[in-house]
Amino acid sequence: MRIDILTLFPNMFNGPFDESIIKRAIDNNIVNIVFHNLRDWGLGKHKMVDDYPFGGGSGMVMKPEPLFDAMEAIIAQDSNSSAQVILLTPQGRLFNQGIAAELAKNNRLIFICGHYEGVDERVREHLATDELSIGDYVLTGGELAAMVVIDAVIRQLPGVLGSEESASDDSHTAGLLEYPQYTRPQSYRGWEVPQVLISGNHAQIAKWRREQSILRTFKRRPDLLDKANLSAQERKLVAK
Ligand code: ADE
Repeated sequence: MRIDILTLFPNMFNGPFDESIIKRAIDNNIVNIVFHNLRDWGLGKHKMVDDYPFGGGSGMVMKPEPLFDAMEAIIAQDSNSSAQVILLTPQGRLFNQGIAAELAKNNRLIFICGHYEGVDERVREHLATDELSIGDYVLTGGELAAMVVIDAVIRQLPGVLGSEESASDDSHTAGLLEYPQYTRPQSYRGWEVPQVLISGNHAQIAKWRREQSILRTFKRRPDLLDKANLSAQERKLVAK
């Protein structure tokens, strides 16, 4: 997968992609992340990228020309593959695991990180193919949101995680929260690991985990249960 990131602050991305699983995915050429500083496409001597809003009001708006010019140059760098162009904005559809899985099927993604009060509406209408928000709060810009989305997408790519199972058991993958996990020691400060987990009975363990997943989702995120994939029997349990 090739990921292009259009941003006024490429240095903000130093760190999150330089460690651990994402770094390994980059080193193994599973993903190629290319940064583009929007300032390079700024207008005039001052490399202007933003301007006052028509109609008045506070704050500045990102101008369309640097974004369209940057995008055309970037697409020309690899015109073979069609790209999804994602604008990060609090007005976008709410990002979730399902969207991460959908995005992971593409071989090219381009992220536009907005700043100031927003971007000129023509960028939304004629450049972006999708708009994503990572939650109902306002960040100083789209960079942190892009990092969140990109991290969630990259860990879905085949070969990124050690074993394919570690992704399929995750919270949210099955529409439920994950069951509680334990490791050694078996007894810590008097707190014991549930007996079933050391029973060696795999069927019992699977049953316990499934119940815990459902129970935990019921207690913490009942909103998720409506869409979760539950058997008729499990639905009855929830209703009880
Ligand atoms: N830019 C500012 N706030 C944002 C949010 N919540 N999600 C995505 N992009 C943003």
